[in-house]
Amino acid sequence: LMRRAQQVQYWRKYCIKQCATKTATGSEFGAIPASNTRPNYDDFIGKRQQQAQRSILVQVSSEKSYPELYNYCSSFGSIINAQHYCVRHDDDLHYILLEYASAGEASAAIDAGAYSAELSGVPVRSPFLWFRAAAAGGKRSAKLAAASATSQPLLPLDGTRQLDSGLLHSLLRGAGNIEEQVLLLHKHTQLNDLGVRMRFLAALQVQQAVSGMFPEAQAQPFGSSVNGFGKMGCDLDLILRFDREPIPSNAPAGEPSRLIYHTKENLSNGRSQTQRQMECIGDMLHLFLPGVCHVRRILQARVPIIKYHHDHLDLEVDLSMSNLTGFYMSELLYMFGELDPRVRPLTFSIRRWAQASGLTNPSPGRWISNFSLTCLVMYFLQQLRQPILPGINALVKCASAEDVRITEDGINCTFGRNFEQIGFRSRNTSNLSELLLQFFEFYSQFDFHNRAISLNEARALAKPDHSAMYIVNPLEQVLNVSKNVSLEECERLRIEVRNAAWLLESEVENTTLSESERQETAWGLLNLFKNPEKAIIRPNMFFKPRMVEVSDLFDKSQTIDPPITYKNTTVRQ
Ligand code: GTP
Ligand code: MG
Repeated sequence: LMRRAQQVQYWRKYCIKQCATKTATGSEFGAIPASNTRPNYDDFIGKRQQQAQRSILVQVSSEKSYPELYNYCSSFGSIINAQHYCVRHDDDLHYILLEYASAGEASAAIDAGAYSAELSGVPVRSPFLWFRAAAAGGKRSAKLAAASATSQPLLPLDGTRQLDSGLLHSLLRGAGNIEEQVLLLHKHTQLNDLGVRMRFLAALQVQQAVSGMFPEAQAQPFGSSVNGFGKMGCDLDLILRFDREPIPSNAPAGEPSRLIYHTKENLSNGRSQTQRQMECIGDMLHLFLPGVCHVRRILQARVPIIKYHHDHLDLEVDLSMSNLTGFYMSELLYMFGELDPRVRPLTFSIRRWAQASGLTNPSPGRWISNFSLTCLVMYFLQQLRQPILPGINALVKCASAEDVRITEDGINCTFGRNFEQIGFRSRNTSNLSELLLQFFEFYSQFDFHNRAISLNEARALAKPDHSAMYIVNPLEQVLNVSKNVSLEECERLRIEVRNAAWLLESEVENTTLSESERQETAWGLLNLFKNPEKAIIRPNMFFKPRMVEVSDLFDKSQTIDPPITYKNTTVRQ
């Protein structure tokens, strides 16, 4: 107990310091620098891709091998970053990710690798390596040499470990107010630097695997791994393209080449062609790439994907070859996150609340996806009287020639990408605690039955069909992002947002409690994260004067009876 109390105390002090300095320094994604220092998405992606090319991943017997590894690997170049993590199996497997100063040095280390009879298998050269113990004779001298080496510190240790929920909750209990809780939650659950590095290394592995035939191939992470809305342990969404997109240029076009590549004839149907190619890529990953296992092909989906697990990175990967709009959508979300420092912490709290209430689920189904939920948050921030985010159409208006992006299927993904040109700065001064409550209140009253949400226009439109929830797909505006959501799940969302609004409204930020009393009380955000099965839903909650009545939640013209019991929550009327 003493140790735990000390641990909590340490984390608290650390977190409060981080929160205080956050506005000045920013974090990996939650960056809040002046607009001219905000990296645009392509720069951010490019920087991470280059970092992956300078990196190798080495399995070691434990973190204690680091001085020896450092000493050995320094002979190939200068190591500028070293991070350790464990993959937990029956025995913990230890890995160290090393970054060299240049890609050439990383290649030299890879080229110096050897195959071993101890590890039988397909001889593939890759940045995934194993550090063999020194031969008996050389052991002592290797250890001595390592001891004298001045090494780059190995930070972090066990860098993919997630804060266990008990400790996280203790931290949140010890926060000063709800706003601080929201910041702490974001700080301690967001994907960290090591997580981002590992995901870009996974992408590089796929890219290198096909680069013989496709020297310009690009395997690019998208989704929560790179848009800044990802939490520790999130999946990697990856898009593989065989060639680069032609980048529009203002320069006068030169004489077109007279040497034309011969190509293999396509199958008549583009979709079957992609499916066949993905089958083949799936086999290749499965048969040849170290670490890749449990490969599954989901080729009949709207966007065909190959799913696999990466053993060395302890990572689930969804690989697609035809989801460029998803890629550009991630860029839009990244930009929204960069435009205002409140966007990401707020979204993290809402996503966690949705998960705890059983509204979202890692597997796809009739419930709202994390992506749709994120769209709801973005729209809420756009429609405020003093908007915190601009509509997408406003971004489109700022686009210059360099921002033109048209996908192979002709979908226009052009919008302004330069923060300075966009020049948006919100005048909204609400804090995170106020915004959280306003979010729940807003969706308690939202007319999902008649209105569709448009992030492009930053307003609600008449709903074009009978889907229970309609969010116009920002890049393919004839589609509905939340088409999968059933009426029952939409109603459940409305009940849960009302519940949450009520809980937050009745929350008194009791600053008179002593620190030890605070530690024992679930307050603020923690009230929202209670397991729904255990949550007490007060019978009178629907009769609060400020709220609409429960009967208003259901459309009276519908023939079905209003549901009484939802997935995990029983509503007592
Ligand atoms: P988690 O995986 O739950 O952490 O979130 P995610 O944002 O990665 O969601 P998901 O893996 O479902 O989707 C990956 C990315 O694809 C999203 O971030 C979006 O950029 C994009 N995406 C998902 N669904 C749609 C859609 O219906 N339309 C468009 N245009 N993009 C989508
Ligand atoms: Mg994802």
